[in-house]
Amino acid sequence: MKATAVAPANIAFIKYWGRKANRIPYNPSISMNLSVCETTTTVEFSSELTRDVITRGFDSARIVEHLDRLRKLAGVKKKARITTENSFPASSGIASSASGFAALTVAAASALGLTLSERELSALARVGSGSAARSIPDGFVKWEREYAYSLYPPTHWDLRDIIVIVSRRTKKISSSEGHDRVKTSPFFTRRLDAIPGRIKRLETALKTKNFPLFGAVIEEECLDMHHVMQTQDPPLFYWNEDTRRVIDAIQDLPAHYTIDAGPNVHVFCEAKNEPLIVSRLNEWELIINKPARGVHIV
Ligand code: DP6
Repeated sequence: MKATAVAPANIAFIKYWGRKANRIPYNPSISMNLSVCETTTTVEFSSELTRDVITRGFDSARIVEHLDRLRKLAGVKKKARITTENSFPASSGIASSASGFAALTVAAASALGLTLSERELSALARVGSGSAARSIPDGFVKWEREYAYSLYPPTHWDLRDIIVIVSRRTKKISSSEGHDRVKTSPFFTRRLDAIPGRIKRLETALKTKNFPLFGAVIEEECLDMHHVMQTQDPPLFYWNEDTRRVIDAIQDLPAHYTIDAGPNVHVFCEAKNEPLIVSRLNEWELIINKPARGVHIV
């Protein structure tokens, strides 16, 4: 009753911000899995354990709650030992909860002998952490309501996500708390009205590999989500001075940015332009990702 799963983090082009019960999102989101930012999780169920033992993890109560869901499905009462390794700093706005809950879901399901489809695994991961639903399928992924599915395999478009680490500090307010306050922003309904058109433009950009259109949409979407975050009650300001400096540094280059719930900047470019963009960002620590496959058992 032991299994190990590796799951990629993912970066959203169209963001998940705001949710209903059971982490059903207010709007569809679209993302890309990251090749370098991964979580590896081993789950072992044992009748010798009297409680769940979690070696590392950002929120053990949430992890135990998620294991209970899986135990209930399998009709198993045994406790588990969970070991987790991240290849990147946790809680820095790189989605550690996405890769974390995707790896946990798939490792636990496998250790319990559950045979579940990709959609069922994605829906289960979603209840643990919304963005985790998108780390289950391969490559470029869309999540509409219950589960996420692949739009294109990782080989579809050779993009780079150059993550510029401007801070390794843990964020003060988790995105989970932020989601619950989204309706306090006067701009939230306006955001929801704009999403369908933005999704259409992004899907065209992905299909035709139109980088300028792709860049225009992801920047517009990033600024829109942060506008909502900053006008919530309490307001959420995730950027720092270097966040702005990175945006300024790439203005005249064939590169575009997006930012999640943290100060670090995800700079996108096409593979052929990677050396040029990297040379402009050399004062910061960089993590360079390619599109990646989804979660897998190792
Ligand atoms: C800003 O998936 O971390 O990264 O469902 O509470 O775990 P929970 O929230 P989470 O929210 C991610 C928000 C975001 C945008 C995105 O990844 O789409």
